[in-house]
Amino acid sequence: MGFLSDSLSRIKPSATIAATQKARDLKAAGVDVIGLGAGEPDFDTPDNIKEAAIAAIRRGETKYTAVDGIPELKAAIAAKFKRENGLDYKPAQCFVAPGGKPIIYNAMMATLNPGDEVIIPAPYWVSYPDIVLLAGGTPVFAEAGMATGFKLQPEALEKAITPKTKWLIFNSPSNPTGAAYTWDELKKLTDVLVKYPHVWVLTDDMYEHLTYDGFKFATPAQVEPKLYDRTLTMNGVSKAYSMTGWRIGYCAGPIELIKAMTTIQSQSTSNPTSISQWAAVEALNGPQDFIAERAQSFKERRDLVVSMLNQAKGIKCPTPEGAFYVYPSCEGCLGKTTPAGKLIETDKDFVEALLEEEGVAVVHGEAFGLAPFFRISYATSTENLVKACERIQRFCGNLR
Ligand SMILES: Cc1ncc(COP(=O)(O)O)c(C=O)c1O
Repeated sequence: MGFLSDSLSRIKPSATIAATQKARDLKAAGVDVIGLGAGEPDFDTPDNIKEAAIAAIRRGETKYTAVDGIPELKAAIAAKFKRENGLDYKPAQCFVAPGGKPIIYNAMMATLNPGDEVIIPAPYWVSYPDIVLLAGGTPVFAEAGMATGFKLQPEALEKAITPKTKWLIFNSPSNPTGAAYTWDELKKLTDVLVKYPHVWVLTDDMYEHLTYDGFKFATPAQVEPKLYDRTLTMNGVSKAYSMTGWRIGYCAGPIELIKAMTTIQSQSTSNPTSISQWAAVEALNGPQDFIAERAQSFKERRDLVVSMLNQAKGIKCPTPEGAFYVYPSCEGCLGKTTPAGKLIETDKDFVEALLEEEGVAVVHGEAFGLAPFFRISYATSTENLVKACERIQRFCGNLR
């Protein structure tokens, strides 16, 4: 359609949102579907956070706020980075947006010129390449495959760097694989980055609090202080505090970048919702113990799903360190035919047939830049997970 902008032709709708919507539509039409596509915790927002929002409404905190966030939230963010990551950021270096996604969007819009390259380890969260493209940059993919635990290797990073590289987008624990980098693994990457002063790091630490088996989270500016002046450390309340619908993400970084992002936000969304900001103040400053309790329950679900998937014929599922995703390979199912007569040639064929023939909704790996895999979100009840994994076992067992 001639009316639409050229930039729209560079991008596509989010595959994960599309998969979630398809499962929702089928369910609404009365089909028995188990949705394992959504990237959000099934837990509710804790009551103390809800109460803080209600109190904010009652106090009349219902007006415009500063574009980059209320001072109370920026102070809470600076305190969080000090307390949990050992990072010194002044409140003026902190920035709040309507979700983690707009943080990435604002950062790319504020920095990319045509021809600028952004290194994205693959598999990646679906929005990274499209946001880069929308902002006029060029995504450069560096493969982080199953053989290396889905973790980017220093050699692959170095090979992807060119004089045009502006950013590395780093994500640990990862969506879609759940892979998380240890301090030592991360240090090997930061050692490479130290050699290339023109490359900045956007670290997406959204899943920081969801790690298992005693894993210790680390973030680039903490591991390599020499990168502090060219790192944007991003986080948010969506996943750790079960606040996906509240739309609050935050970050901290060099003041000039933060000011540029504020300019972009001032001409797009303006401030994030005032009420959600007050809820986020309570999330960051209030009791934190429920996070570990919820993480324990995610760990139990991860173990269940990994074990059941590895019993499905043709499926290989590594055990990830964090987040609430697994990223199994379906390579062993390719070239086979389903009971309904569909030939499985790709991971997309696999997930489509799984949905049609067994009513299990997952997202195909090609959408995340690495095939043949699929992503399962295990942020749902144990009962649902058992039922879904039994169906996957049956589906794979019936392939001929
Ligand atoms: C890796 C990663 N980063 C950022 C986000 C965006 O979070 P938000 O919902 O706060 O925009 C998500 C959400 O799925 C994610 O998985």
